Amino acid sequence: MLLKLGQLTAAYGQAIALEKIQLQIHPGELVAILGPNGAGKSTLLKVISRAMNSHGTLEFNGQSLHAYSTEQVVGLGICHCPEGRRLFPELSVMKNLQLGAYLRTNRQEVENDLTRVFSLFPILSERQDQIVSTLSGGQQQMVAIGRALMGDPQLLLLDEPSVGIAHRLKMEIFAAIRKICDGGVAILMAEQDAQSALHIADRAYVLEHGSVAQEGSASGLATDDRIRKIYLGVG
Ligand SMILES: Nc1ncnc2c1ncn2[C@@H]1O[C@H](COP(=O)(O)OP(=O)(O)OP(=O)(O)O)[C@@H](O)[C@H]1O
Ligand SMILES: [Mg+2]
Repeated sequence: MLLKLGQLTAAYGQAIALEKIQLQIHPGELVAILGPNGAGKSTLLKVISRAMNSHGTLEFNGQSLHAYSTEQVVGLGICHCPEGRRLFPELSVMKNLQLGAYLRTNRQEVENDLTRVFSLFPILSERQDQIVSTLSGGQQQMVAIGRALMGDPQLLLLDEPSVGIAHRLKMEIFAAIRKICDGGVAILMAEQDAQSALHIADRAYVLEHGSVAQEGSASGLATDDRIRKIYLGVG
């Protein structure tokens, strides 16, 4: 088991945002987190990357994460691509990508991962000297995913990778996410676009009001009556 959450609870002050979450990810799996606005999807990713405190079981490769800082968690192999991307807008594409590798010391491996990012997103190779704030939203999302990959993750946390992005780029980004996973990186992805998410994911969890309302294989959920009605707008 790569990641194991059990009875996991988190709150903003008095307001409980996650309650008794049970969730597992196996190595190399692509798992989607679906759910409406305010369900707790971003909070769940923040808790795993230790950007926020929680109570309960939170284990990565059998080791509890509670004692680790956000930075130490990156060193263990968990990279978080947060909501709103948090890039350095005044720096170039290349500089942003290099900053994703700041904890790494093996220059050759970093160079190989840069090649991997450019083969996933060829446009970034063409635009490597461009200032990030002048890229389109979709291209900035590619930089954000690329930067997270430069941390050499075993587990990549993606928060709404497709939000606000034009259809064509969105499809390109989802295809790249599937490729990243096929290359051996496990992915936990929060996503509002349930249809696209279920199309590429292996499994999914549906969060509602901070709890897991449903879980299952992506293909099973895609044909589930309740999911189809609420999240896919059909049936
Ligand atoms: N910094 C914060 N301080 C207080 N409450 C917060 C904070 N961030 C989120 N919340 C609350 O926690 C709950 C879960 O929020 P969260 O951002 O995790 O939802 P989400 O599923 O990611 O929603 P969205 O789809 O809109 O991104 C919501 O009720 C939200 O209002
Ligand atoms: Mg969110």
